[in-house]
This record gives sequence, structure tokens and C-alpha cells, in this order.
Amino acid sequence: MAQPVIRVFPDLESLSREAAEQFVRLAQQQIQVSGRFSVALSGGSTPRRLYELLASDPYRNRTPWDQVHVFWADERCVPPDHPDSNFRMANEVLLSRVPLPSVNVFRIPVDRGDPVSAAASYEQTLRAFFRLEPNNWPEFDLVLLGLGVDGHMASLFPRSAALGETHHLVVATRGGTPDLPRVTLTIPVLNHATHLLWLAAGAEKSSVVREVLTGPEHSDELPAGMIHPVCGSSAWLLDRAAASLLQRSPSHDPRR
Ligand code: 6PG
Repeated sequence: MAQPVIRVFPDLESLSREAAEQFVRLAQQQIQVSGRFSVALSGGSTPRRLYELLASDPYRNRTPWDQVHVFWADERCVPPDHPDSNFRMANEVLLSRVPLPSVNVFRIPVDRGDPVSAAASYEQTLRAFFRLEPNNWPEFDLVLLGLGVDGHMASLFPRSAALGETHHLVVATRGGTPDLPRVTLTIPVLNHATHLLWLAAGAEKSSVVREVLTGPEHSDELPAGMIHPVCGSSAWLLDRAAASLLQRSPSHDPRR
């Protein structure tokens, strides 16, 4: 299994610019190969700047938006215009500002029915989009992930039953800040992505970043440590504060 690539940037701005660069590059490459680019967005506050950059030039003009298909790694069970909605944030700062066809936006339907039915419905959406045979997993071209101080990613929280899911693509769960019912992609889906791109910034993330990237084999106490891509790549973009407890190593880009 390939080691994750770790890159350290002076601040959230430069980290977000690199993430935007990677997003555009992967979209262009993948669209050339297969005619479409599937991305699952993360929630939380860290990717906001990335989304703003993608909605502005030069990134906006370089992205073939009509062939981009947008999904979410997780959603809080609130209406789509609620301040805590992951869809709302991405829609306000990115999706409504780029020429992305509305049929290419696959939000998690948490406002239709209970969380369990929303998860089942999103699973069907993924099965249809990726034309999955039973027992197959989708291969997102890119999944963006943030890291919680407790080691969660998407809405996969420490010690949650959702961490043991080996059959479903999408499950209902609860937790996080704000503490809400949520719907999340499962670990096998994340592990089957072609590219995982983690963004973490701020000193409050430094201990958990060290734990995930240098700690021993992990248990369900630390969900991010349970991610082991099957054949895809995993890259971490960190600001200096989040990387401050990591030892410098050759995988750190010395020019940054
Ligand atoms: C959510 C997220 C969650 C987030 C992390 C990091 O919906 O809450 O998808 O996994 O990415 O909690 O959040 P910050 O970027 O706000 O630190």
C-alpha cells in the first residue's frame, strides 16, 4: 500500500490554492480519459476557501464544469438552506457560481424522509451513477476530506457503529459539532476512491495529524487511521500549524 503524500504550506490560503490546482488538474485529466469527473465534497469550514477559489479565475475557467459530477462525503440532517448544511455552504460559495448543470449535483437528500431512508436513497443514486454490480464499490475520481480533532472524517466518528460497515455505501449516523443526525459515505467507499485529498489547517489539528500520520496501527478510536486506499492515492495538504508536531521528512516539500 502506497504511503500518503504529505505537503506542508505556510497557511490556509496557499494550501487551498494547491488543492484548487489539484482539483482542476485531476478534472481535466479524468475528463480526457473517461468524459466525466466525479468528486465527493467534504463539509466543515476548512474547504470553504478552496470552494471560493474554484469559483474564481483562473480555476473557474480551466474546469470543464459540464462534465463534473458533484457528490458529498457526508451531510448533516438539516434543510438544504440551513446554516449547518454542507450542501448550502458548497452551493453558496461554489456550485451556484460556476456553469455546472444542476443535473450534475447529487446532494444527499436529508430533507426527504428519515436519515436511514436518505442513506438508502443516496446509496441507490451512487449505484445508478457508477452502474455498480451488487458487491461492487464506486470509484470516485476525487474525495475531499477534512479531519476532526477527534480523528473523524466525513461523518465517521470514533467508536461509531458506522465504522464497521462492510456492505453499505452510505449509512445514517449521528455526532460531531454540531451534534446532529447525519448521513455519510462508509469507509470502503473512501478506500476505493482513486484520489483522496485531505485538507487540515490550524494548531488545534496538530496532535491528531501526528497521531493519524505517524501513530501505530489504528482502531475505531481514530477513524482517519482506518483509511487504507485499495489502489488509489492519498495526499495530505497541511498548513504549518497543523503540521507542527510532525518530524520533517523527505515527503515534506522543502520549498514550501
Ligand atoms: C462535517 C464534515 C467533517 C469535517 C471535519 C473537519 O460535515 O462536519 O464533513 O468531517 O470535514 O469535522 O471540519 P473543519 O474543516 O471545520 O475543521
